[in-house]
Amino acid sequence: MELVLDTADAQAVKEVSEVLTVSGVTTNPTIITKSGKTPEQVADEMLNVLSDDQSFFMQTVATDFEGMMADARKICSLRSKNMYVKIPVTHTGLRAIKAAKAEGLGVLATAIYNADAAFMAAMNGADYLAPYVNRMESYGDGIGQVMDLLEMLSINNMSTKVIAASFKNPHQVHELIVAGIQAVTIPPAVAWSMIDHPGTQIAVDEFSAAWREAFGRDTFM
Ligand code: E4P
Repeated sequence: MELVLDTADAQAVKEVSEVLTVSGVTTNPTIITKSGKTPEQVADEMLNVLSDDQSFFMQTVATDFEGMMADARKICSLRSKNMYVKIPVTHTGLRAIKAAKAEGLGVLATAIYNADAAFMAAMNGADYLAPYVNRMESYGDGIGQVMDLLEMLSINNMSTKVIAASFKNPHQVHELIVAGIQAVTIPPAVAWSMIDHPGTQIAVDEFSAAWREAFGRDTFM
């Protein structure tokens, strides 16, 4: 499974990547505007901390076809490999996904709220599909729709990866990992909350105290 970070914070990506196996970074226009940086600054900083093997995903902002295609070409030219354009699954977006794939660009279909729209984007050639799990929950179902999508891709022998997105807590991520999701994109805080448990530190403190009392040192030998 690919663990991707949903953030414009390059320092956070560096810190999480030192501890966990991170496959890449997604951003969106809201994340970038909230960062207080320009898209150029975010791209520069992120490409500085990402290794060549880690993927980077940036999103189109234009809503008309020509504008989307221009955004897509610009985004994909930022880097020679592992660079993907995120395109929302509007009618125009689905058209742009088809055209971008015909040009050989890496494409992630985003802003997905139901399994059928995602499946159509996969039929148009998208490499990744990003269903917005938490936001879908507020329309009635998120996890169930993503599970349907996994099944729909599998029975059609399609290699498109589902990169589940818009998580608000580690439990939602856990449910989809158990279901066999190919990728998740999560904010750094959710990544930390997936591994942090007070019991781990308490156990380590107990080991250290016992060792110090018995041998008077903090190292093995
Ligand atoms: C995914 O690629 C999106 O950037 C993101 O997960 C959307 O999540 P939000 O619901 O937190 O905006």
